[in-house]
Parts: sequence; C-alpha cells; structure tokens
Amino acid sequence: MALDAALNIFRAIGEETRLRIMALLHRGELTVSEITAILGQSQPRVSRHLKILADAGLVERHREGAWMFYRLADRSGDQAAAQAVIDVMDELAEADDRILTRDGDRFLQAREARAALAASYFEENAKEWGRLRSLHLPEKDIESRIIELAGEKTVDLFVDLGTGTGRMLEIFADLYKSAIGYDLSHEMLAIARANLDQAGITHAQARHGDLFALPLESQSADIVCLHHVLHYLAEPRLAVVEAARLLKPQGRLVVSDFAPHELEFLREEHAHRRLGFSDDEVREWCGAAGLKLVQTETMSPAASDKQKLTVKIWMCSAAKTAQQSRQAA
Ligand SMILES: C[S@@+](CC[C@H](N)C(=O)[O-])C[C@H]1O[C@@H](n2cnc3c(N)ncnc32)[C@H](O)[C@@H]1O
Repeated sequence: MALDAALNIFRAIGEETRLRIMALLHRGELTVSEITAILGQSQPRVSRHLKILADAGLVERHREGAWMFYRLADRSGDQAAAQAVIDVMDELAEADDRILTRDGDRFLQAREARAALAASYFEENAKEWGRLRSLHLPEKDIESRIIELAGEKTVDLFVDLGTGTGRMLEIFADLYKSAIGYDLSHEMLAIARANLDQAGITHAQARHGDLFALPLESQSADIVCLHHVLHYLAEPRLAVVEAARLLKPQGRLVVSDFAPHELEFLREEHAHRRLGFSDDEVREWCGAAGLKLVQTETMSPAASDKQKLTVKIWMCSAAKTAQQSRQAA
C-alpha cells in the first residue's frame, strides 16, 4: 500500500465522530438516518463524516430509493494499514468506554425498534398474509419454478426460514421426509400450524425461532429456504450465513426475493427495509458464507401488472466434503 493511501486511512479515522461511526458499522449495516439518531448529531454533519470515510475506502454505501445504506468496506484485498484499522475496530468492540458503550446500546435499540416494527406488521397482518403475499408477486409461477429447480429427489430435512404462514412447507411437502419452518411471529406460526393441519401435512412442524440463531445442529439440512424474507431483515447477509451453517455438504439454499425496484411505499406500508437485491449482492453473500450461487432465475411481471415486481430465485449450493470431491474427480 502506498504511503498516501495509508495516510488517507489514518487521517479519516483519526477523529472522534468518524471513529464512533466506524465502531458502529463494525457492528452492522446502518442507514444514514439511523447513524444520525444514534450519534445525536445533525444529518449534514454525519453525511460529511461518512463521505470522508467513503473517500478513504473505509466504508461502502449504496442508495436504495430514499435510503442510503452504509457498511464497512470489504478490505480483504488490502494489507497493513487496512488491517490495522480492522484490528482497532476489533479492540474497540471489546473496549470498556462510556461513549462507545452508549453508541452500542443505541445501535441495539435501533435494531430492536426496527425488528419490532416488522414484527407488529406481521402480527397485524397474519390473517391477511395469504392475500397480501400475492399482491406483488406472480405467485403461482414462482412456486412451480422453485419446485422444479429443487428437483425430484426426496430429501431428509427441509428447513424454511421465516416460514410465515407455512406456504413453503406446504408446496415442498412431497419433497421432504421431515421439515421445520421457523418464525418469530406467534400469529404467523398459529396460521402456519392451522394450514398444515388443513393440508393434512404431518411431517412438518412450525416452530418459534430467530432465523439468525437457530437451535439446529450445523450441517443438518438438505434444503434451506428463504422465501420473501430477506427484504425485511436488517442484516440479510447474516441470514445467508446461518442458512449456510445449517446445510449439509452439497445441500442447497433456495432464496427467492425481489430484484432491485423503486416501490418506496413498501417500506412505509409493508415494513420492507430493502428494495430488492442484485445478483451480485447475493453472489457476494453466498461466497462469504461458503456457498456457491449456481443458478439465477428472473421472473418478470406482465407489462400490464404495474404493481407487481420482478422476482428472483437464487439457487445456491454448499461445498462437497473432501470425500465427495475425491469421488467426483
Ligand atoms: C413476508 S413473510 C414470508 C413468509 C413466507 N416465507 C412466505 O413466503 O409466505 C416474512 C416472515 O419472516 C418472519 N421473520 C422476520 N424476521 C425473522 C427472524 N429474525 N426470525 C424468524 N422469522 C422472521 C416474519 O415474522 C414473517 O412471518
């Protein structure tokens, strides 16, 4: 790394607010308004600091509709100075410092407030979910395509993360010997259980659980599904990490969500946080979680369906065991 670049990095973090911002982003991705609220400083001031950090290559930003998201830059390619910054961040995460502890508490409060907002949306709309979920999706086409992509071979364990009313447990029922659908919303789970009963599906269970930390053994699932869940989450990439942990070698992760879009009102009215995802973003998450994105499908709505969105299906695969690789060679 050149002297100039190293100096740039150290100048950028050599200021209290910027170091606090770095410590916050070390905990996870945030929007500008969340950072502003946590630090209790004006938005123009925070934006100025963020620009300096971005210019030094320390943070990355991406705009989605009216929201700008920030996160620590992936500096895995860089060396010395960048590593020194990461080391400092790791140390600060453990530090017993009054200001950083208060920032950390506010970070958690912001996370909880956001999760509570989405939870109350699902609590209120659990009974209506069957109708709501089809508002923006060409539902039947997607379901048939997902089943096709999953293949015909029966699997032992299917795990559905953010199962909601259990629709994925229902449509995959012929493909698995047993299944567990996890959700945080008791209202959604009650409906999922009723739906499974009604469909006569006795080999699937709907359980309460946080998809970021599930009480399931690593490498226990053959297929993990994330169907229209990621856009509600604060850290969608961590959901992929947990899914990857659950997968057996060569197990598959099926993700379905929206392609990038501009329907901002979905944030206000339907608790969406993210306005869709690009293939590159999903590929990056998969790579970081040790999965490979093996297939991407794009399902566009009819031109007349102005309110419907383009839906993506991403099929990802876990690595083979060393023995499987040797056998394949
Ligand atoms: C849009 S619904 C999708 C439900 C279902 N996958 C479907 O396709 O109909 C998203 C679900 O994710 C659940 N959810 C959100 N955050 C969660 C978390 N951290 N752990 C488990 N479930 C979560 C919500 O309660 C909600 O039921």
